[in-house]
Amino acid sequence: MSESNASPSGAKGDAPADVAATAEPSLISRLIQGFQKTESGKDAVRTRRLFVGFGIGGFLTTNFLMFLRFFFPRTIFEPSTVFRIGTPTDFGFGVDTKFQKSNRIWVVKNTERLFVISAICTHLGCTPDWKQSEQKFKCPCHGSGYDPEGVNYEGPAPRPMDRARVVLDPEGQIIVDTSVTYKAEKGKQSQFDEYPGAYITI
Ligand code: FES
Repeated sequence: MSESNASPSGAKGDAPADVAATAEPSLISRLIQGFQKTESGKDAVRTRRLFVGFGIGGFLTTNFLMFLRFFFPRTIFEPSTVFRIGTPTDFGFGVDTKFQKSNRIWVVKNTERLFVISAICTHLGCTPDWKQSEQKFKCPCHGSGYDPEGVNYEGPAPRPMDRARVVLDPEGQIIVDTSVTYKAEKGKQSQFDEYPGAYITI
């Protein structure tokens, strides 16, 4: 009787009980681990389903939005290609750059004529800068240089810059039409003289 009530700790006869105690938790822990595995497996499936659901939902939403976008075509509001710029007396001699930003043109006036240069480099289409101190147009992209009449003389530009159509209306206002341009081949800037709309005689 006294043996059966003996304290378990430190007693030699308690060794088998310890083994059982260590064996039991390992079985339980194995069961718990199995349960956890099952739970994490379910979670993984749930997470995977969630991802797939989001993927499909995102794909369908994107396609639906693209479909809707089809019914609302993008409209770009560009400035009119035909516009008035004032009278010949509004311009001094030389190059006037005040319409460069709004209409991408320069107005040039000399003692005989007024004409409008399209501010587009004939190499690859950049907008050259007017260098007042050097009296030249210089393209920032590849270095083409043009004289004050837009005639190329350095760099890769293949020909002079184009000129836009100019006419005077009955009130003496200059009307520019940038949808009509005149071109001159390399070294043949006198070709501009052949086009009445390429300048206004003043
Ligand atoms: S675009 Fe002007 S030099 Fe090339």
